[in-house]
Amino acid sequence: MCGIVGYIGTNDAKEILLRGLEKLEYRGYDSAGIAVVNDAGVHVFKEKGRIAALRQIVAEDVDGPVGIGHTRWATHGEPSRVNAHPHQSETARFTLVHNGVIENYEQLRADYLADVTLKSDTDTEIMVQLVELFVKKGSQVEEAFRQTLSLLKGSYATALLDKQNRDTIYVGKNKSPLLIGVGEEANVVASDAMAMLQVTNQFVEIMDEEVVIVTRDAFTIKTLDGKKVERLPYTAELDASDIEKGTYPHFMLKEIDEQPFVIRNIIQKYQNEDGTVRLDDEIRGAMKAADRIYIIAAGTSYHAGLVGKQLIEKIAQRPVEVHIASEFLYNMPLLSENPLFIFISQSGETADLRGVLVDVKKKGYPALTITNVPGSTLSREADFTLHTYAGPEIAVASTKAYTAQMAVLTLLAVDTAKARGIELDFDPLQELAIVSSAMETLCDQKEKLELIARDYLAVTRNCFFIGRAADYFVCLEGALKLKEISYIQAEGFAGGELKHGTIALIEDGTPVIAIATQEHVNLSIRGNVKEVAARGAYPCIISMEGLDQDGDAFVLPKVHEYLTSLITVIPLQLISYYAALHRDCDVDKPRNLAKSVTVE
Ligand code: F6R
Repeated sequence: MCGIVGYIGTNDAKEILLRGLEKLEYRGYDSAGIAVVNDAGVHVFKEKGRIAALRQIVAEDVDGPVGIGHTRWATHGEPSRVNAHPHQSETARFTLVHNGVIENYEQLRADYLADVTLKSDTDTEIMVQLVELFVKKGSQVEEAFRQTLSLLKGSYATALLDKQNRDTIYVGKNKSPLLIGVGEEANVVASDAMAMLQVTNQFVEIMDEEVVIVTRDAFTIKTLDGKKVERLPYTAELDASDIEKGTYPHFMLKEIDEQPFVIRNIIQKYQNEDGTVRLDDEIRGAMKAADRIYIIAAGTSYHAGLVGKQLIEKIAQRPVEVHIASEFLYNMPLLSENPLFIFISQSGETADLRGVLVDVKKKGYPALTITNVPGSTLSREADFTLHTYAGPEIAVASTKAYTAQMAVLTLLAVDTAKARGIELDFDPLQELAIVSSAMETLCDQKEKLELIARDYLAVTRNCFFIGRAADYFVCLEGALKLKEISYIQAEGFAGGELKHGTIALIEDGTPVIAIATQEHVNLSIRGNVKEVAARGAYPCIISMEGLDQDGDAFVLPKVHEYLTSLITVIPLQLISYYAALHRDCDVDKPRNLAKSVTVE
């Protein structure tokens, strides 16, 4: 989390940095700051809260062609102006921004900085103080920067300014994402290409333990021990309109509406000319060779993994385990002889997953990443990647990335089944096309879903989602969506599990949203609804055509039984969206969250 930007060119850096930070706000919005350099010196502006708050305090008359910026998701030190980046060294010669976590900062402080009075509570400040210390001891700035980075344990994407050399930005990276953008008479630094598309679409990836010396018309990549590295830029395939809201009031609503197109896009990308599924031969080989598949993910992507397990087990008849990434390393299950690891991650940057990937690679196991960002760390470091083609997802609450993950997992399951000689009695691409149309029908029913949100969720303190089989996994996702953007305490439960404890929480008027799309459990989930209704709950049944009954609040169009989760989630996303609106919540940027969780 946290996002950094830098600009060195001929235009006013201030506005470019602010616009860049606005594009990175999804990475954290506890505080923000910029530093701009001109002939008069280094001008630092920082503020608690959003970029909009920072804009208010940036002096209009300060401009300069060089600068760095930061948007923060607080880890060490509360969100405050003092803890906001950029941080400066004792004499204010050096100014630095940082994304990541320095795990040994207390030790470094004790070893090197006992005589320095730190201004903030952050782990970051020791970096800038160390650079100054090494310069005072006689090192050149670049050397002092490399010396500093060599001492750090943890993750960083960092940019440093030196007041005495206004033609250079020093950049370093380890584990946190970082790109250099190459423009005309300007070079830029960014955690994500989106931030600097305003300047260029030519970017160079920076690898772990590399530093970059960036000037207006050149950049030099080096390893931490000073060896030069050559790397060519690539063209970022991003359309600037993908990262704008257009006429939508929120990115989340836009992204919900994009889901039918995302599914069509996936069909197109993974379709052979003869209409069959096309996947990489190497991925097919790895899936076929594996005796057990381990899916590793977090949050919404974990929920997609649960659906993926069902798909792969039912369609390809391979055993699958799904694990929460942050738990896996600390509680590793007994692994099979030939495991294959699948990492599911929208961002491709989630630190918890990366920890597992590094460990798995050390042990020599094959790894496949399913991600929306093919150049991301998890994609680069795995053996294979499947792209979800959802386009940039900006709202913090994941919507289209989740359905895209499930669609790609379906195709992976189908391809594996084919490789194993299993005859399928359905056409997956045809069925996904039906899903896409069903999604469109659902997105057209916003008014009805807004009424449900108002009726059930406008004032409630809590809410339960219940379902059985595949519907249970969507309940987990529905509850996560609702709690993260509306702050309603929401929990997803397996319908049969309620009476083993949770039913004690049901009071008069407690909303219980029940999902009934699975024929084999339709009657039993309706039985669970009766149980909670008898105890005062206010039930709302979302069912599927053919299984619906009088009094159901919402009926979904019919899709193939394997693919119900892809459409069941749409009304849940929309209900959460409208509940958050009714409760005056910041839909796209819920409190305490960040889109890309790059710290463990
Ligand atoms: C919730 C949400 C998060 C992410 C989780 C993993 O709406 O977006 O739960 O799913 O932080 O992120 P990725 O998929 O980027 O690894």
